[in-house]
Order: sequence, then structure tokens, then C-alpha cells
Amino acid sequence: MLGGMSQIAHRFRPFGTSIFAEMSALAAAHKAVNLAQGFPDFDGPEVATHGAVEAIRAGKGQYAPMTGVPPLREAVAAAWQRDGRGSIDPEAHVTVTSGCSEGLVAAYLGLLNPGDEVVIFEPYFDFYVTCAAMAGATPRFVRLNPPSSSTGAFTFDEGELRRAFTSRTRAVVVNTPHNPTGKVFSREELSLIADLAQRHHAVVITDEVYEYLTYEAARPHISIATLPGMWERTITLSSLGKTFSLTGWKVGWAVAPEPLSACVRAAHQFLTFCAATPLQHGAAAAIREPGDYPAHLRALYAANRDLLAAALTRAGLTVYPSHGTYFLMADHAALGFADDRAFCTHLTAKVGVAAIPPSVFYHDPAAGKRLARFAFCKKRETIDEAVRRLETLRT
Ligand SMILES: Cc1ncc(COP(=O)(O)O)c(C=O)c1O
Repeated sequence: MLGGMSQIAHRFRPFGTSIFAEMSALAAAHKAVNLAQGFPDFDGPEVATHGAVEAIRAGKGQYAPMTGVPPLREAVAAAWQRDGRGSIDPEAHVTVTSGCSEGLVAAYLGLLNPGDEVVIFEPYFDFYVTCAAMAGATPRFVRLNPPSSSTGAFTFDEGELRRAFTSRTRAVVVNTPHNPTGKVFSREELSLIADLAQRHHAVVITDEVYEYLTYEAARPHISIATLPGMWERTITLSSLGKTFSLTGWKVGWAVAPEPLSACVRAAHQFLTFCAATPLQHGAAAAIREPGDYPAHLRALYAANRDLLAAALTRAGLTVYPSHGTYFLMADHAALGFADDRAFCTHLTAKVGVAAIPPSVFYHDPAAGKRLARFAFCKKRETIDEAVRRLETLRT
């Protein structure tokens, strides 16, 4: 008898069906406002569409070079310099991937051997753990704890981080701005991570897909690769999706020194070989000429965040500050639900607003049971509708 879980390889069995697919299906079934999966409900900038359509019309329909089309790699290198991160070589240091997702898989598979350990902050973007399973690597978790004040940020315990590093540590994964907490790692925190990575000869894999989505001048985005001694040991991953509201294009890139680019490329050539050629050209156009798109997006999201946070607070949740990304976390414990799944299911089916139960982002699900994650990467009207519906949560 074929079928059921029995056919799935052992490495994927612990993970089941992605929570994003599950909550989006529930949201659709109940016509809920979908603040669960993090994708915008509007389109990206015309410059990107135009660039991609032009590329298709110009017959750029064949495989791209394995490392990415030169205009995109050059645009990524120019943006790196424009952002004050230094001068890099588009040929040697930039590899285009099918979204940051493929960049993650390529970094893990190209770098890690079975038995290696990888330090991961939790709650985590689920790929960090599934990629470890694919590579046969062992995750070591460090908890990000909610702030005790309404102005604070999620923080980790320094001792816990130090203890997570062992003689087997090969990599540490940083994600800043951080999904799902909205944390933007500070220079002090990144310096501590950098120091430990150097002491343990570990590589940092840093996922910076929300690099342009920060909301507080006092908490700017900092790339760990720019800290002293870190360029040599860092793979920086990013993508087009969040910055330009084009999550479905799945165009991403890895920036790394030559020996680490070699690791990414070793795997990338056998994963997808290359991302879609016309979309790479569209991405290049958007990165070259972003105009005021990123600033507009930041302003929209900051206003959405504040509206949503206020509505959730009125509904009786404790909302944690989000300084970056397009997510916020809130504690629903005061409302009396058994756990995060019970709360999110009720919210979706009865209130008509879908959110993600964050227990799936912890290796011990109990750690997330008081929480819910909301995405605010939506049109203002969508957020207004969610706010209206949230008024019924308490009644
Ligand atoms: C932290 C983080 N990394 C990576 C990704 C995936 O990026 P991409 O769509 O470019 O593959 C996401 C998408 O939700 C994310 O939140």
C-alpha cells in the first residue's frame, strides 16, 4: 500500500504540513482576513514588471548563468556599496538563488557535514531547522525572550548563547530583522555573536530578507558581515520578495567571500542551477532604480503596525513591539484559550482574522503557546477590515 506518511523520508517526518498552507486554507474556508502568511495583497513596483516583461519580449527565455545574470549581480553589488557595506565583486561574491529559501538550502548543504552543529535562535523561520535536517546537521537552540516592558525588544541570554557553541559548531544562523518577533539585532548583540563565531571558527549564515523594513531610527539594520573580521566568515542572504512586494518571484541572492560562495554554488548548481531568467532582469531593474518604493512601503507598514497593535491591545492581548519585518507577536493568555492553536483557530473561524500559531517556531512547542503572529504587509483597507473584526473578539 503506497501513500500516507509511511512513504516520506525520515528526515521530513517530524515536520508535517507547513503551518502556512494549513492556516491559509483555514482562512480561505472562513473568508477570514489573512494576516497569517506573510505576503502583500498588492503588487510590486512597475519598474520590476517592466524589466521582466522587456526581458521576455527580448527573448531572454533561456537558462541564466549558474551564478545569476550579470545585471542582477552588478545591481546587488552596487546596492551593497550604496548601503555603506563596502565594495564587493559581483562575479566572485554574488550568487543568485531562487529566493532566499534556496539560498538557505544551498548554504546549509554546501557548508555542513552530517554531525555538524548549527546554532539557531528561536522562535525561528522554519527553514532553518528543516535545512539542518536535510544536511544531517544538529540544531542548537537559543531562546529569544519577550520584553518585560512595552518599549523593549526580544532578547537572548548571553550565557545561553555561549553554551550553545561547542567544538562541533560549524555555523550560526542570524536573522535580522527577525521573523517572527520583529526584533532588529543591535550592534552589541551582533558583536557578541561575531566574537563567538570567530572563537569557534564558525560561519555565520545571515538571513536579511527584511533588511529594508525597519521602523525605528534608533534600531537600524546592521549586516553582521560588516563587523570587524566578519566578511571572511559570513554568508549574507537576501531576496527581492519583501523589499519589492514580489514574494512570488522567488529571486534571491547570497553574498559571500570566494571560499563561502564556492560552498553555496557547489549546492546551488545541483538544486536549481539558476533562477528564472526574465525575473532576474526585472529584479535587477528594481534594485538599480528603487525610487521611493522602499520608503513608501515602510511608511505604509509602520502605520499598519500601529493600527493593528492598537486593535489587538483593545481586544485584550499584550502586543510586543515590532521594530522591523512585517510581523508582530502578541500574547493572548489573558483571553483564556488553551493554547496558540486554539486561539488562532477561533480567531480565524469565528472572528474572521487569520494568524499563525507560533508554537511551530519553537523546538519545544509549549514555549509558543501564549503567542500569536500577525502579518501587517497588507493594504490599508485590509488592515482596517481586520481591525473592525477584532472588535468582536471580546464579545
Ligand atoms: C526570515 C525569512 N527568510 C526567508 C524567507 C523566504 O524568502 P524567499 O521568499 O525569498 O525565498 C522568508 C519568507 O517568509 C522569511 O520570513
